[in-house]
Amino acid sequence: EVEPMSEVTVTVGASQALFLTLQALLNPGDEVILLEPAFDLYYGQIRLAGGTAVPVALTHDVEAGEWKLDAEALRAAVTPRTKFIVLNSPHNPTGKAFTKPDMEAIAEVVREHDDLLVISDEVYKYIIHAEGVSHHHFAALPGMFDRTVTISSAGKTFSITGWQAGWCIGPARLIKPIQLLLPYVQFCVSTPMQQALSRVLSLADEPFEGHDSYYKWLSEMYRKKRKLLADGLESAGMKPLRGDGGFFIFADTSDIEVPEAYLRQSTPAAPKMTRDWALCRYLAMEAGVLAIPSSPFFSPQNRDLGGNFVRFAFCKSDETLSLASEKLKEHFG
Ligand SMILES: Cc1ncc(COP(=O)(O)O)c(C=O)c1O
Repeated sequence: EVEPMSEVTVTVGASQALFLTLQALLNPGDEVILLEPAFDLYYGQIRLAGGTAVPVALTHDVEAGEWKLDAEALRAAVTPRTKFIVLNSPHNPTGKAFTKPDMEAIAEVVREHDDLLVISDEVYKYIIHAEGVSHHHFAALPGMFDRTVTISSAGKTFSITGWQAGWCIGPARLIKPIQLLLPYVQFCVSTPMQQALSRVLSLADEPFEGHDSYYKWLSEMYRKKRKLLADGLESAGMKPLRGDGGFFIFADTSDIEVPEAYLRQSTPAAPKMTRDWALCRYLAMEAGVLAIPSSPFFSPQNRDLGGNFVRFAFCKSDETLSLASEKLKEHFG
């Protein structure tokens, strides 16, 4: 149960929820811990708020095919200047859904510091496609509601990213400064969007297209789309990592040889060409399939960890995913 007037702010997407949270609660010189790879928007927004991003790398477990939390590295990264840990589950770009033990380990670190807070970015919470995996709210752990700003939006859940309706939820002491800042940035979220969303949120719990609810249908739809793309990537010699949620596949491309010509090129976006950028250009030019390089999800000191990874999106029509798979197979299989 949350108190709508004092514990919720409706924002222009999760992006603005993040922006307002950081602007309202961060002081110049404060540190924000990011678990890397991390959604690239965080870096700029932390800088805009005068803060410093402090990276803590997730560990790539090659055998399990996933990225794991290193709780000791997280603990060691906290300093007296640390204001926030940003937790994003399900995670962009890896698709990892942090487990309950992962979250408990983070909560333990939070409890060790009186002023440490968490931003829990849960925009993909309804898109859990792995069997037997559930989403956990960090703020539901003992004592964590009072330490957490939970951020989400309608964009991913209802495939309406352009509508930009999001929200933050947390204790009144953290939400109040965000509410006070909001009218100085944007008076409010477009009212028709808020009206539409309030209606769709209650409809979404009802049976939909043969499923118990819209959310069940959504997960099922993405489970199928993920398989379609993952199979295509595998047939082209890439290794999709295990992913639990969201609509991205972080794929290990180490078995693909990137031609020298692409490695030698430089572009305004990548003046010092790296393998992941070169590979994405190679995929685009040769197969017409676009992927995102991993570098923007890492701070400079951790970029090498991502060198062999690129991110593919499967929030596309089945026809597009099948065509992409065919083209990848044709060119690289
Ligand atoms: C992890 C994460 N958080 C927040 C956002 C932004 O969400 P919105 O479109 O609601 O601003 C995105 C969008 O890509 C995202 O991947």
